[in-house]
Amino acid sequence: MSAWDTSLGWSLMTILVTGGSGFIGSNFVHDWLAQIDEQIVNLDLLTYAGNQENLSSLDEDPRYTFIHGDIGDIELVSNLFALHQPRAIINFAAESHVDRSIHTPEAFVQTNIVGTYRLLDCALRYWNELSGDEKTNFRFLHVSTDEVYGSLDPNEAAFTETHRYEPNSPYSASKASSDHLVRSYHRTYGLPVLTTNSSNNYGPYQFPEKLIPLIIHNALAGKTLPIYGDGQQIRDWIYVGDNCSAIRRVLEAGRAGETYNIGGLNEKTNLDVVTILCDILDNAQPKADGTAYKSQISYVQDRAGHDRRYAIDAKKIIGDLNWRPVESFDTGIQKTVAWYLDQQDWVANVTSGAYREWVEKQYA
Ligand code: NAD
Ligand code: TYD
Repeated sequence: MSAWDTSLGWSLMTILVTGGSGFIGSNFVHDWLAQIDEQIVNLDLLTYAGNQENLSSLDEDPRYTFIHGDIGDIELVSNLFALHQPRAIINFAAESHVDRSIHTPEAFVQTNIVGTYRLLDCALRYWNELSGDEKTNFRFLHVSTDEVYGSLDPNEAAFTETHRYEPNSPYSASKASSDHLVRSYHRTYGLPVLTTNSSNNYGPYQFPEKLIPLIIHNALAGKTLPIYGDGQQIRDWIYVGDNCSAIRRVLEAGRAGETYNIGGLNEKTNLDVVTILCDILDNAQPKADGTAYKSQISYVQDRAGHDRRYAIDAKKIIGDLNWRPVESFDTGIQKTVAWYLDQQDWVANVTSGAYREWVEKQYA
């Protein structure tokens, strides 16, 4: 078979992922290699959120290559494009935690804006040198968030792809900027880009600074379960495997230049999410003293600029690309709790050292 298989519409060559050692990226790499026999190169800086353990089962897999480095390192990224000749790049790399962006916004500007710009520019120079099918079929897929749209009132319609951008945190503002840069590289230079804006993901390998793994970890450790403000903020939760299947589908069939909103069709208040987790844990791992995990709930000071509600209108990806989430919140959250109960060594490894400093600073 030639490197470029026209019957598939794209080559069985190589894809480059960035941030593949983080939560969504590592799920994506596992799912991809389980389904598609194609080389993956993962460029990751291994910040506090990146964890090589997430992909250690691929150490001996000849299809997987890890490169330690920064998406903002122009020389490194240019060399990677020249060496591996990827047919697509999927950009997961980012600073991703809203609360950290409130304490230290600069890292978010650096990676999410400057880093994405440099990655785009390297991709453009590489793409300009391609020709024929390789040029036509190349894609730059940028992974983004629904938080760029801002906050919804309880009765407002869910976010469509044409909703105005109104980011409220340094995190969402930096992601919004990156989305605009991606769009501009298509409109100005013709680079074939795709953008996905997904809702809140949950599932295996999520760092326990985010709500769901933090609550599971604190509950089992006998610590308080911190709820910001009144706990009535609403998020649309998507199981990470469903976001990965949506990203694969967008890469396969999305129209260059388009954006696609990805949602789990599961709106829940934070208090509901925490209560569901407590109920599952009461069954799966009852407390020795017979009390319910709910008794550990504690209302704490609200997040500054806290968005009240996010909700995704996923009609475009469902209608145009025939994608749907497989997991309901009930099935996805059961799987997630089971994974964390089974992976207490992973949790112990990621919650040592710098994690404790973060928790002390954030929840002091
Ligand atoms: P994460 O924080 O778990 O992982 C980010 C990864 O990027 C880490 O492995 C980190 O080491 C790496 N990274 C950070 N800076 C880098 C740099 N300069 N160069 C190379 N690698 C770098 O994040 P996640 O939750 O997996 O999110 C992945 C992407 O999806 C992000 O772009 C995020 O904005 C977006 N997103 C996340 C969610 C969610 O609920 N987690 C929802 C919507 C969109
Ligand atoms: P998070 O997982 O940080 O995701 P995001 O801010 O990107 O939506 O938080 C999800 C929701 O849970 C958000 O409304 C903030 C809230 N939250 C708490 O109430 N307590 C916590 O300790 C954390 C981390 C989040």
